[in-house]
Amino acid sequence: MFQTLRPQQPDPLLALIGLFRDDPRCDKIDLGVGTYRDEDGFTPVMDAIKSAERRLFETQGSKAYLGPEGDPNFVDLLVPMAFGAADQAGRLVGVQTPGGSGALRLGGELIAAARPGARIWLGTPTWPNHRPVFAAAGLTVAEYRSFDPATQSIRFDEMIAALSQAVAGDVVLLHGCCHNPTGADLDEAQWQEIASLLANRGLVPFIDLAYQGLGCGLEADASGMRCVLAAVDEALVAYSCDKNFGLYRDRTGALFALARDSGAAGVVRDNLIALARVNWSMPPDHGAAAVRCVLESEDLSRNWRAELDGMCRRIHAVRRALAAADRRLAFLSGQRGMFAQLQIAPSAVAALRRDHGIYMAGSGRINLAGLRTADAGRFVRALDSVGAFSRLEAISA
Ligand code: LMR
Repeated sequence: MFQTLRPQQPDPLLALIGLFRDDPRCDKIDLGVGTYRDEDGFTPVMDAIKSAERRLFETQGSKAYLGPEGDPNFVDLLVPMAFGAADQAGRLVGVQTPGGSGALRLGGELIAAARPGARIWLGTPTWPNHRPVFAAAGLTVAEYRSFDPATQSIRFDEMIAALSQAVAGDVVLLHGCCHNPTGADLDEAQWQEIASLLANRGLVPFIDLAYQGLGCGLEADASGMRCVLAAVDEALVAYSCDKNFGLYRDRTGALFALARDSGAAGVVRDNLIALARVNWSMPPDHGAAAVRCVLESEDLSRNWRAELDGMCRRIHAVRRALAAADRRLAFLSGQRGMFAQLQIAPSAVAALRRDHGIYMAGSGRINLAGLRTADAGRFVRALDSVGAFSRLEAISA
């Protein structure tokens, strides 16, 4: 049977984990996979999570199954944080998923079950796994250019033009905040325009909210999504706790669906549970249990928010340090979140790795949270020495 399988290339982004680990240089810099690092280059377990894990260790009396929907308390505790105080009148349902990626896949399968062959629109560049996940779920993927790396700006007109060709029932993927890979988020007026367009044309938003709290704070990072949800009848939201709770390998997330009314929402939830059952049966518990423990506790919540704010401030500091180190990187200070998409030739990316021990995605995406502010000057000099700036135009912030 296996003779028919074709060899597969390793995921080029995730392959960087092993390449970086095996590089013996002690001054190497990892700007590849999107994990937060502190000023010592370390991805710590957050203190609030450590405390929650200690509490779990002391109090958890059973590891019996919870069911395909995961831990409903975890899901309920995410609701006010992600969706605010808006009364959804029973229209909003959610289930726990293995990370944000599990939520994207589950959402893709729900769409495919509701409307076989449905079309999903992706603005490019986007997270490289979006397209394969939705295609694997059976959706038809349509792409449009939503960002210009030469000017580091959103191509909003092209976005509106592309979505004006979409037909009722098409799905539109939107990054809730901290766009991956560009760091270029829609502003308030643009969110409002998109929300009206989606509502008027009967398009279904699928919002990927993977970095809440790492852009401008928990509330501000959710405001675009909330504006869209207030305008439309139906929507999906893939929520990840992997970054804002630092739980990466524990795969902690949830999929939320907004339906027309509470009756439809109940049917959606039953479908999500049935789809989860045939995929992973039940999601892993540990990360969600730790998040629940944090959010249930006033003191742990306070500590977690303070730590998250600290991470957010450090990312801003790295952005400012790079912008100050070279005016050709000034655009970085106006963008948000962990990523930026540099317009760098693949040969320059390879030279940075070979000659300077600096690792980044082949696309030129950098994870700013991987850089120590003290290394900003060295990084800029390395960019210069491999000729990277020849394609980076001087863009004023
Ligand atoms: C990233 O974009 O680097 C992260 O979301 C990790 C991943 O799974 O690709």
